[in-house]
Amino acid sequence: MVSIVANPNCGVPTMETGMERQLEIYRKGLFGMPEQFPVDAESLESAARTAMKPEAYDYVAGSAGTEQTADANRRAFAKWQIVPRFLRDVAQRDWSVELFGRRYPAPIYVAPVGVQGIIHPDGELATARACAKLGIPFTLSTVSSYTIEQVAEAMGDAPRWFQLYWSRNHEVAASFVRRAEAAGYSAIVVTVDTYMLAWRPRDLRRAYLPFMHGDGLANYFSDPAFRALLSAPPEEDPGSAVMQFAAIFGNPSLTWDDLSRLREWTRLPVLLKGILHPDDAREAVRRGIDGIIVSNHGGRQVDGAIPALEALVQIAEAVGDAVPLLFDSGIRTGADALKALALGARMVGLGRPVMWALGVDGENGVHTYLRNFLAEFDLTLALSGYTRIS
Ligand code: FNR
Repeated sequence: MVSIVANPNCGVPTMETGMERQLEIYRKGLFGMPEQFPVDAESLESAARTAMKPEAYDYVAGSAGTEQTADANRRAFAKWQIVPRFLRDVAQRDWSVELFGRRYPAPIYVAPVGVQGIIHPDGELATARACAKLGIPFTLSTVSSYTIEQVAEAMGDAPRWFQLYWSRNHEVAASFVRRAEAAGYSAIVVTVDTYMLAWRPRDLRRAYLPFMHGDGLANYFSDPAFRALLSAPPEEDPGSAVMQFAAIFGNPSLTWDDLSRLREWTRLPVLLKGILHPDDAREAVRRGIDGIIVSNHGGRQVDGAIPALEALVQIAEAVGDAVPLLFDSGIRTGADALKALALGARMVGLGRPVMWALGVDGENGVHTYLRNFLAEFDLTLALSGYTRIS
């Protein structure tokens, strides 16, 4: 089964169509082999709940506080509806988009999610390989179970971005950024909303935080600047290394002025992830930031925060197309993606559902999930009367 073909025109992988994917599923059913993999986000999540360790499931599913912002993220999509148009010849479609001089097959990327090793033993390697097969950009979290270099090796030339949690120790932050550039990541995503972890009742109830078990710290433990802070290497004294991580992970003192340091560390385009206020978006543009990711971290940080989709509307109005706007938080269907694109996003990021797919069936699961998502996306846009993102 081939899910992508080389596009002779520009070398960008092209998507299989939604109809091709649909027919594959129906054909299998005809031959008595119905598709086992869930075809909608809700059943995917319940399959993952069965497959995963309960504390890992709760870590992924959980949000801050009463989880009202996570719910509001979803409800915000229902407020907007699509008006389909017909009789416009949509037989040939091309969903490719350009970002920072590179073309991608679809306006879809995988958002950074940490500690994927608690979800599946292959963790980020599995997710990254599945993305690579489809040409969908994979964003590696700072707090990953595999290192920047291991993930790069698993992906070959396929597109990848690195997400930075800016450490209190600037040397460590600089080292991560330099390692990412050296390993072929093509953008730096600086997450601004997580200089400390929010109050997350599901994790607190279980008294479970993966990092305390040493999970998700591969980049730190392999980093020369981090290791220089330790009196014994992590292999000899993991407990002290974990405590050192906890001491320097977040940087609540970070300000706009600090961002200028990035230009000394890297030539890569920089995106700020987690922007929700139009004034912060304007400031980012004024400071020469290359792109903005409108996101509320899937409701995991400020309970009661504005739904991300509402923020997208306001931010698109405030900054227009001065810089590309990307979006995540609540995308579950092709229609959600269409709405976010129509409201001003250049690309949309997939978060939790990718993790459910990873939990259910590792690399295959993520690959199947992404194919299904792209198929639904293609069908929704085609049936709404569109042939191009523009
Ligand atoms: C995240 N997210 C996240 N973001 C980030 O910048 N760095 C990170 O390490 C993580 N880690 C992480 C772990 C888990 C378990 C989740 C669910 C999320 C946030 C992520 O990039 C994205 O903003 C949200 O997942 C979007 O919300 P939905 O669509 O998943 O609900």
